[in-house]
Amino acid sequence: MKITTYINDERKDFQVEPGEVLLDLLRREGYTSVKEGCKTGDCGACMVLVNGRAMTSCTLFVSQVDGKKVRTSEGLHDELAENLRKEFVEVGAIQCGFCIPGVLVSSYSLLTHNPDPTEEEIKAALDGNLCRCTGYVKQIEAIKNVARDFEGVSK
Ligand code: FES
Ligand code: FES
Repeated sequence: MKITTYINDERKDFQVEPGEVLLDLLRREGYTSVKEGCKTGDCGACMVLVNGRAMTSCTLFVSQVDGKKVRTSEGLHDELAENLRKEFVEVGAIQCGFCIPGVLVSSYSLLTHNPDPTEEEIKAALDGNLCRCTGYVKQIEAIKNVARDFEGVSK
């Protein structure tokens, strides 16, 4: 089947198998920030934005993004995304880095929909992202710091 999708603002036309999952398509097309972990929707390493919402690309058939906007971690370049990257590095929220593109996508999605989250809301937003290294404390701290400085947010 033929589908059209918009990946990181670029129109893409693909001929795909009906059962193909988005994770496989993205990896094949060179979007290597999208990681294959569990492939069962449990680890969040493959997280992408679909029309602005964080979703696991391993649980989406490619046909489900026909006509939709997909954004990977490579495609996040605005001030919020850069602040998240900078803060993750500064507070030491990254170790091996395997989970980080997915964590960035979830964090970005959280702050665009809720620029002033509580700690519980941050934990809920990261609930679908497994990190084997950091214990989450530093990641939560980084997100809180970015939220505090995010334009229009006073804390
Ligand atoms: Fe998709 Fe783990 S690879 S959630
Ligand atoms: Fe290693 Fe998260 S930094 S899995």
